[in-house]
Amino acid sequence: MKKWMRALPIDERVDALLAEMTLPEKVGQLNQPANVSPGPDRDALAAGRIGSSLYASGALGGNVRDEGLSIRAIEQCQRIAVEESRLGIPVLFGRDVIHGHRTVFPIPLGLAAAWDAELVERLCDVAGSEALREGVAWTFAPMVDISEEPRWGRVAEGFGESPALSGRLAMAAVTGFQRHIGATAKHFVGYGLAAGGRDYESVQVGENTLRNLHLRTFKAAVDAGVLSVMASFNDIDGTPMHANRRLIREVLKQEWGFDGVVVADWSGIGQLVDHGVAADARDAARQGLLAGVDLDMASGVYLAHLESLVGDGEVPLDLLDDAVRRVLRMKFRLGLFDDPYPRTTADPIGPTAATRALAREAAVASMVLVANDGILPLSDQVESLHLTGPFVDEGEALLGTWVLDGRGADVPSPLVAFTDLLGDRLTHTDGRFSDLAAHRTRAAAVTVALLGEHPSRSGEANSVADLGLPAGQLEALKQLCGLGKPVVAVVFGGRPLDLAEVLRVASAVIVAWHPGTEAGPALADVLFGRREPSGRLPMTFPRSTGHVPSSVHARATSRVLDFTRDAWDGRYLDALTQPQLPFGYGLSYTTFRHGGPVASASEVPFGGQVEVSAQVTNTGQRAGRELVQLYLHDPVAEVTRPKLELLDWQWLDLAPGETGTAVFTIGTDAFGYFGRDLTWRVDQGLVRLITGRDATASAAVEVRIVAAGADE
Ligand code: BGC
Repeated sequence: MKKWMRALPIDERVDALLAEMTLPEKVGQLNQPANVSPGPDRDALAAGRIGSSLYASGALGGNVRDEGLSIRAIEQCQRIAVEESRLGIPVLFGRDVIHGHRTVFPIPLGLAAAWDAELVERLCDVAGSEALREGVAWTFAPMVDISEEPRWGRVAEGFGESPALSGRLAMAAVTGFQRHIGATAKHFVGYGLAAGGRDYESVQVGENTLRNLHLRTFKAAVDAGVLSVMASFNDIDGTPMHANRRLIREVLKQEWGFDGVVVADWSGIGQLVDHGVAADARDAARQGLLAGVDLDMASGVYLAHLESLVGDGEVPLDLLDDAVRRVLRMKFRLGLFDDPYPRTTADPIGPTAATRALAREAAVASMVLVANDGILPLSDQVESLHLTGPFVDEGEALLGTWVLDGRGADVPSPLVAFTDLLGDRLTHTDGRFSDLAAHRTRAAAVTVALLGEHPSRSGEANSVADLGLPAGQLEALKQLCGLGKPVVAVVFGGRPLDLAEVLRVASAVIVAWHPGTEAGPALADVLFGRREPSGRLPMTFPRSTGHVPSSVHARATSRVLDFTRDAWDGRYLDALTQPQLPFGYGLSYTTFRHGGPVASASEVPFGGQVEVSAQVTNTGQRAGRELVQLYLHDPVAEVTRPKLELLDWQWLDLAPGETGTAVFTIGTDAFGYFGRDLTWRVDQGLVRLITGRDATASAAVEVRIVAAGADE
């Protein structure tokens, strides 16, 4: 038996295999063409020239369907690689399994609104297991880009603007996926800062901000053992990420000790020519490899040029070997050498009753009630209900962006779910708003208007310059609301939208994102109060497009406005500056009263811990869930710091009248940050710990960090 097939530690197996490889075989491992198939690619597979392949519909795959996976084609390709190539190295097959595979869960931004890492882990476990059963060994998820730019369509794919929330959900996603397949933390790094929210645009950001905000989620994913990291399309201060040796080789690989694969984004290495930093494809390949991008997705420039670059001494062999080692290590870690073929089972891939139940739970948990004059929850005894708007009988459109394998036909639409519940007490108007919608609104006890964005208006390459609702929707809503009957607005979408007018005219508003396979039933659960709405916004909703950026981590500035009053006030002459809906915001069908935070000690030594607790009482008539959010404000630091930084959160389930206590145990490391010299530091002195129900919270307790050994 070849040494690399023996049960040795992975790095020994990698070294043994590498020692046998020719230069062309090594380069082959770094080549990832799209959509390989056993016919046209037979020779390249047999020659060991295709190390990996991704199945995608093209460069903008997020909203373009392909023909679906062919497990048979994957198996045939793998047989050629394993049985016919000289060394029998298996191919690594990747696919974008972003928020579900056959069973589709809410878009990641919606998942983040559930503030529930355990839920994210469970559903990524399901997604990974469904994908594995169709021959996929590796997904390009989770996306952990931090962004405060709702114009950027890709905010739909991420977990929102807070590094703490996003980082914890990233870890959960990595753990869930990697029970079955490899995961990828993407896009490294700064992609969410695309100028003007225009996808792929240039990024200007300093390394301190990168470290304090944008790198943190990647570090969390690396700490969770993510097997790969994808480079991002943007440049940072003039250096495209696919050529960014400082951040990829020095920070990610050396400083953090990441020993997995750095994969290019689609043609990202070849596009160094488009960036205008590489003279030609060969130069692009050289820069990509030197920067530390190990695997060339889709551009083919490594395959075409790495051999000659090594031959001419322009790329040192040890750097090439390091890249090959990483790819082989990942294949060993995934068990591909021992078990290379897709495992077909007789079980249906999905959705099954169990995965549907999880999809429904996730969709319910993602929905955020942002306004309610008391009309909600609706009674299922309601005399008559009119359902209207462009999403009434939609399945496919409620799955969201980046759904390659979920099917619209599997989605019970809102019409189906509401008909199940109300029978002939339901009327509806399809598609566009019409005069008929006005007649039916007038005739019904209540109208539910389903508004918002189609998935093709969010996701990759789908930025908008105006955060308002799509054309015509607001006018129609206003017309219906003008008829004197209650209208509940449900807003689907992949981003924070400008909801100012919707909030003004509607009786109640629910932000429902794109909820996935169980869209209709989950919406009915929430609207009819069979389940409590408990989602909380993971991204600030600005007052208008002109208010972007506005996020929870806005920093302290000169000419500071009184923090204890309202740090946002007075920045514009023509509008209030506060967000329309703050980060963390969300209502419930009951009401809660928050007590201020109490700390277990007023001083805490470096390396010690402090307990902060806050009491919450359910002051309403219904049982409900409340999210207690804990924020940090550091009044004096070496660099400007966020006015509020989310540290932790806790759910409390409370019966009417019941009081519960959220208890947070915080180590002093949670108060740290990267200082002027870009090193991590925790300062002596005062910090303020703030608890409440969203980022307008102000009830604070002060704790002093003191030298270890100081008296308490
Ligand atoms: C996207 C990535 C995606 C890749 C492969 C790119 O266009 O930016 O997020 O994983 O395509 O489909």
